[in-house]
Amino acid sequence: MATVIVIGSQWGDEGKGKIVDILTQDAHVVARYQGGHNAGHTVVIGDQEYVLHLIPSGILHPDKKCMIGNGVVIDPAALMQEVEDLEQKGIRLDGRFYISKNAHLIMPYHLALEKWSELSKGDRKIGTTGRGIGPTYSDKMARIGFRVSDLLYPDLFRKKLKSNLSYYNPLIKALYRGEEIKAEPILRDYSRYAERIRSWASDVSLLIHESMNRGEHILCEGAQGTLLDVDHGTYPFVTSSNSTAGGACTGLGFGPSKVDHVIGIVKAYTTRVGSGPFPSEVTGDLEQRFRSIGKEFGASTGRPRRCGWFDALVVQYSVRINALSSCALTKLDVLDGFDPIPICTGYRYKGAMIKEFPTESAVLEACEPVYEEFPGWKCSTVGVKDFQKLPEKARNYIKRLEDLIRVPFSLISTGQKREETILIGNPFH
Ligand code: GDP
Ligand code: IMO
Ligand code: MG
Repeated sequence: MATVIVIGSQWGDEGKGKIVDILTQDAHVVARYQGGHNAGHTVVIGDQEYVLHLIPSGILHPDKKCMIGNGVVIDPAALMQEVEDLEQKGIRLDGRFYISKNAHLIMPYHLALEKWSELSKGDRKIGTTGRGIGPTYSDKMARIGFRVSDLLYPDLFRKKLKSNLSYYNPLIKALYRGEEIKAEPILRDYSRYAERIRSWASDVSLLIHESMNRGEHILCEGAQGTLLDVDHGTYPFVTSSNSTAGGACTGLGFGPSKVDHVIGIVKAYTTRVGSGPFPSEVTGDLEQRFRSIGKEFGASTGRPRRCGWFDALVVQYSVRINALSSCALTKLDVLDGFDPIPICTGYRYKGAMIKEFPTESAVLEACEPVYEEFPGWKCSTVGVKDFQKLPEKARNYIKRLEDLIRVPFSLISTGQKREETILIGNPFH
């Protein structure tokens, strides 16, 4: 039996979906532990592309159980849409899909609150996905949130909604001159969602515990990335959950001693969507090149992703915060035509060199990247499945990354498809 956590090591979109899909072959259960439908995890199987937002990327394996943990926030409308899209593609969920009764629900007023909050920030806006993630986690912490279990008790749901609206409506009117939010349409929609969600609502922590006792392999799927973690990321330009490895324990309900392996997904360069500091960012033609070759557009919002070189300080920090056991390197093939290929190995701050990733965004904003240059390999690595078949210069680039981050690669990805992968080690064994 082994429990493996998959996390993003940079600012999200590292290719977690593809790697989770591959690792699912060896798992019995795949479970999401934080975030919501702000995530967009793309999996390509044959000619078919699937984008998962809330449902674990393991769902494409028809014999595997998939779970959404208590740490996730769920917009029921988005969930229904995703289930419908999957069912239309022939993916069946019933009998193998479970949602924690303790997971929180995104409510329509959370979307409105987020919109106003972003507007009020002007040019310091976070650039959120606009899915209501932040206000939903705020309500959870303020202890006025709705849990999935509330859907099962319509009378209590109604009372709680009325109480929340009597709190929010005066605020919305006074602060934003917004329209009053009415209870009835929400009650109508949410009671409809409850009909389907009822059959999935479970004690996910207990299910995982029982699965562990049967000696099964558990794969915990993180969303976002370490630098978007609300505690350890580039605050305030972060999401509102713990996307780091620790979030798997609290977001699914098991203790740290159960964790056997943490695998960090690392893109061969760096991207970021939304605002905030990004020292190794490039601009102009170079950025356009990354974007078009790497198809760097948000899987959830379609926004162009900001692009830059590999930043070793970011990944070294991620290794520390998550205690990474191994890494999976993705999108190596995107670098095929670049020459030279710089790697950021330090920052210059106020004239001095920094070797550790700074935790204050204001410091990071003022940091200048210091690069080491690598010669490009200028030939295709697309679809290579054997490390020795990579061009020597690509192998040298990978070895240098390994030296810098001091963690081995257990997997290298050379294309979007399942089979375009170099398997080096198995995190479950
Ligand atoms: P996630 O949010 O971490 O799951 O990543 P996304 O799915 O948002 O973004 C990663 C994108 O890169 C997806 O379109 C993947 O299909 C794609 N991808 C993953 N690995 C590779 C790779 O090795 N090479 C290329 N070219 N694309 C990849
Ligand atoms: P996956 O799982 C990349 C970013 C948003 C914004 C910040 C806060 O696909 O890697 P939020 O809506 O969460 O309050 O937005 O976080 N963000 C992501 N960036 N990949 C993601 O998910 C992201 N989820 C949120 O762009 O900067
Ligand atoms: Mg994504």
